[in-house]
Amino acid sequence: MSFLAAFIYRQFIHEPPAPTASFKGRTIIVTGSNSGLGREACRMMVRLGASRVILACRNVDKGKIAAKDIQATTSCSPDMLEVWQLDMSSYASVLAFAEKVNADLPRLDVLLANAGRVTRKFGMTEDNEESITTHVVSLSLLAFLVLPKLRETAMKFNTLTHFTATASELYEVAKFKERKVPDGKIFATLNDKSKANMEDRYNVSKLLLMFVIRQVATMFPLDSRQIIMNCVAPGFCHSELGMNEINGPILSRLVQIVKNILCRPTEVGARTLVYGASAGANTHGQYLPDCKITPMKGLAKGKEGRELQNRVWMELKEKLEQIRPGVTSPS
Ligand SMILES: NC(=O)c1ccc[n+]([C@@H]2O[C@H](COP(=O)([O-])OP(=O)(O)OC[C@H]3O[C@@H](n4cnc5c(N)ncnc54)[C@H](OP(=O)(O)O)[C@@H]3O)[C@@H](O)[C@H]2O)c1
Repeated sequence: MSFLAAFIYRQFIHEPPAPTASFKGRTIIVTGSNSGLGREACRMMVRLGASRVILACRNVDKGKIAAKDIQATTSCSPDMLEVWQLDMSSYASVLAFAEKVNADLPRLDVLLANAGRVTRKFGMTEDNEESITTHVVSLSLLAFLVLPKLRETAMKFNTLTHFTATASELYEVAKFKERKVPDGKIFATLNDKSKANMEDRYNVSKLLLMFVIRQVATMFPLDSRQIIMNCVAPGFCHSELGMNEINGPILSRLVQIVKNILCRPTEVGARTLVYGASAGANTHGQYLPDCKITPMKGLAKGKEGRELQNRVWMELKEKLEQIRPGVTSPS
């Protein structure tokens, strides 16, 4: 199916099923959960019986408002919802967050790495353009840092745990011209403001996120750790995504009209996230748009896709090892 045909099918014909999996007794973390899909995913997992849900947000006040809203609509005990500070554009914040996870949580069943942003403005955070720091480097850092806790939980409670990342269907149309450079220069090229194609950057960052999931899943097969690593894509959904870049009341109104025609309700998109966070062993290393295992396409496809993934991984591994030596070989 072409990208356009798949878009039409997804937005107008197919509706992902409401999840029914039980999260009873589970401890869940959702990053970027003060709004949009993350907040709805938290609400859904509370309704499905989760015991402890941690909203990992860069703005704690916004997180507390979201927690209150979830509590009011589900009538859950307020004690089961917590808000922890996490800014994915800061390595120090990711390191501090992971330390708290490892020190304070008796168990961690699901980490839903959902925080994301879209922007046409080029800006650096840490040693990368911000989308790359947030969606790729910090996400990988967080994954490696919490793998021991996910593994410990799986072993102790004889269960499977999940690291699920929110990707986007737009990875499929990433042009990623920055890949056409010698080995070892991809991230440096992505950091070159004078050559940056910011129209393509979100798509590229989500493609790289999918490479991370596939790479880490290959490094840690399911039978070695009992951790399912997968990535989901929610379709085009109502949320706050990109809305801060829409200037002026007329443009805002126009965007709202288009979104009202095209977008899925946030709750419907969030079903795909909750599906990923409860999906079976066969989803390890897989891409799950619309709650189905789907072969990766575009630049992720086939032998060339694996080769590109390998080149990206070689550079990313070096970055991660600089942030925290030994992090890519967790116990
Ligand atoms: N909506 C869609 O159509 C769509 C489609 C495909 C994929 N997605 C993906 O779905 C995920 C959720 O997005 P959404 O649509 O629900 O948009 P949203 O309402 O804007 O939610 C994004 C969340 O990510 C948080 N976030 C952004 N940068 C962060 C950072 N550096 N550290 C920590 N949190 C950060 C935001 O916090 P603040 O409120 O503080 O900014 C917010 O809570 C994103 O990864 C997005 O790329 C969305």
